[in-house]
Amino acid sequence: MCGIIGYVGRQDAKEVLISGLKALEYRGYDSSGIAFNVKGKIKIIKKEGKVLNLEKAIDKNDTTFEGIGHTRWATHGIPNEINAHPHHVGNVTIVHNGIIENYIELKNNLKKKYSFQSETDTEVACALIDSLYQENKDKLVALKKTTEIITGSYAFGIIFDDEPDTIYAIRKDSPLVLAEKENNFFIASDIAAILPYTNHYYLLKEGEIAKLNHDGLYFYNNDLSIIKKDENIYEGTLDDVMKNGYDHFMLKEINDETKVYQNIINSYLPNLDITDLEKHFGSFKKYDHITIIGCGSAYHAGLVAKNYFENYANIPTDVELASEYRYKKIFSNRKELVILISQSGETADTLEALRKAKENNMDTLGIINVLSSSIARESDKVIYILAGVEIAVATTKAYLAQVLILSLLALLMSYEKGLTTKEEANKHLKDLKKVIDITKLIVNDNQKYQLIAKKIYNEKDMFFIGRGIDYALCMEASLKMKEISYIHSEAYAAGELKHGTISLIEDNTVVIGIVTDKNIASKTISNLKETKARGSNIILVTTSEIYEEIKTDKFYNEIILIDNVTPLFQSLIITTPLQLLSYYVALYKGENIDQPRNLAKSVTVE
Ligand code: F6R
Repeated sequence: MCGIIGYVGRQDAKEVLISGLKALEYRGYDSSGIAFNVKGKIKIIKKEGKVLNLEKAIDKNDTTFEGIGHTRWATHGIPNEINAHPHHVGNVTIVHNGIIENYIELKNNLKKKYSFQSETDTEVACALIDSLYQENKDKLVALKKTTEIITGSYAFGIIFDDEPDTIYAIRKDSPLVLAEKENNFFIASDIAAILPYTNHYYLLKEGEIAKLNHDGLYFYNNDLSIIKKDENIYEGTLDDVMKNGYDHFMLKEINDETKVYQNIINSYLPNLDITDLEKHFGSFKKYDHITIIGCGSAYHAGLVAKNYFENYANIPTDVELASEYRYKKIFSNRKELVILISQSGETADTLEALRKAKENNMDTLGIINVLSSSIARESDKVIYILAGVEIAVATTKAYLAQVLILSLLALLMSYEKGLTTKEEANKHLKDLKKVIDITKLIVNDNQKYQLIAKKIYNEKDMFFIGRGIDYALCMEASLKMKEISYIHSEAYAAGELKHGTISLIEDNTVVIGIVTDKNIASKTISNLKETKARGSNIILVTTSEIYEEIKTDKFYNEIILIDNVTPLFQSLIITTPLQLLSYYVALYKGENIDQPRNLAKSVTVE
C-alpha cells in the first residue's frame, strides 16, 4: 500500500506530484508529503490526512522541476507528520511503498551513527542508503548494496542532496512504473498517476536501478551496466481514472459493470461459443482438484466459484484465504490447479501463497486485473479479468469480473470433461446478453435501493443470511456494507443462525436474506421466518422464479426481485443491487465512500 511518485521535467513539479498523489490516494490516505528541489536545496512538506491538506500547505511561489511524493497507509507508527514520508537522513531523501522486514536489526546497527526521529522502517532504509553512499562514494553501488542488505518489499524514490535534480528508484515486490514523454520523466506506483501525460511505461525488475534526470531515463542491471528496456502500453484512457460526472468512483464502477461484461465477451467469447473459450483460456483437462486462493472480496469470488467448479465441472474445490494458505501444510498434487485471484495482482499474502504453491510444484493460474502485476508475472498462466482501472477502495466491477471469469472457466472444464455438451454450454453463454440487459436496468432504475437504504441507514447491526452459493454471496454483500457504511454486519449460513447467533436478533434487526437457489429456497425462508418471530426487519433478495412460489406469503418487509438467468450467471445480477444498497446506505450516512477509513486498495503488506 502507500503510493509513490517522482517527477523530473519541464512542468511545475509540485503540481505534477500533487495531481499524481491524488490519483494514488486510493492506496492510502493517512498522510502525504512531497520533497522537491528549489535552487539546489531539497524542501520537504508533509501533512497528516488527505492530499488536500498537503496541497493547501504548499507555497505556490516555489519554483521546482524535480521532486518525489508519497501518500501513506500507516504500517510502522501512527499517522502523523513525523512518520509521514518523504524521510530525510544525512544526504538522502526517500519515499517508500512496502515494508522493510529487517528494519529493527538495521536500526540497532545504525543507531550509533544516526538519531532516528520517526517510528518508521523507511527512515531506517534512508539512513542505510546514506551510510552506504558515504562508504562507497557511488550512488549506484550504494543502491545495489542496499538491495542486498534489506529484506521485505519496497519501491523507493530517492534523491541525494548533492544531486538534487536526479531521482533514483529501486523496487522489490512493490509495484512501480516508469515513463518518459517529451523530456518529462516519471516514476509512480500505478500508471493512473501519470496517465494525463503518457500511457507508455516501463517496468523495473528486482535488482535493477533506474535514474531520471533532465537528460533522460536510464536503467542499470545488477552489474550496474546500462540496459535498454521494452516499453509497455496501457490500453485504457484517461476517462478510466476520472469520475466522469458520477459523485463517486464506486457508483461509476458499478455503472461500468455492463461494459466489463461486454469487454469479456468481445475478448474471450466473440461468437458466444464455448470453443472461443478453449482458444483463449487453454485446456484444463488434466486437473482433478482445484484450490482457489485470495483475500477479501477475491476470496469471496472464490467461494462463489467453488459452487460452479463442483456442480458444473464435478471438480472438488477448496477455497483458502491467502494469509492462511501461506503458512499451512501443503499436499503437493500434480493434478491440482491452484487459482490465485487478485484485482491488483500485488496483494502480499496472495503473492506469497502463489510462491508457496510454486515451491510445492503445483500449476498456478492467476485471475488478475492489473496487467503485468507481480502475481500476473509469476503465475504459470494468467487470465485477465479486463475490468479496467478500479479506483474505489471497495471493489465492485472487478469482483464481478472475477466471478464471471471463474464461471466461464468452470463451464469450459465441464465441457472439456464431456459433462456439458457444446449446445448446452452455448445456451448458458447466450444468457450473457440477458445479464447485460438486466444489469443495465438495475443501475438505471436505482430508486428502489435508495428507498430501502433510507429506511435502514441508521441501523447499528445487520445480518446477511443464505445457504450454499447464496451464503457466499452474503459474505461479499456483508463486507461491502460494513467496509463503506461502518455498520456492523455479519454474513451467516442461514441454517447455522439458530446455533448461537440468533440471540443477537431483536426487534427491527435488519436481516437480509439472499435466496437464489430454488432447491434450498424453502429452507432459507424458514430460517428467515425464525428471525421474523424474534422481530427482525427482513429484506428478501430473490429471483422471479422463486417469488412465484412464495408470493402469497408476505413474511418480509422489503423485497428486491431479480429476473432469472441461468444459475451459472445468476450471482452477477444478484450482486449489483446489493452493491447499490451499500452505496446508498453509506451515502445517507455521509461516509467517505471511495476511501473508507483504515483501508487501502492495494494491500502490499502482510
Ligand atoms: C473489498 C476489497 C478487498 C480486496 C482484497 C484483495 O472491497 O476490495 O477485500 O478484495 O484486499 O485485493 P486484490 O484483489 O487486489 O488482491
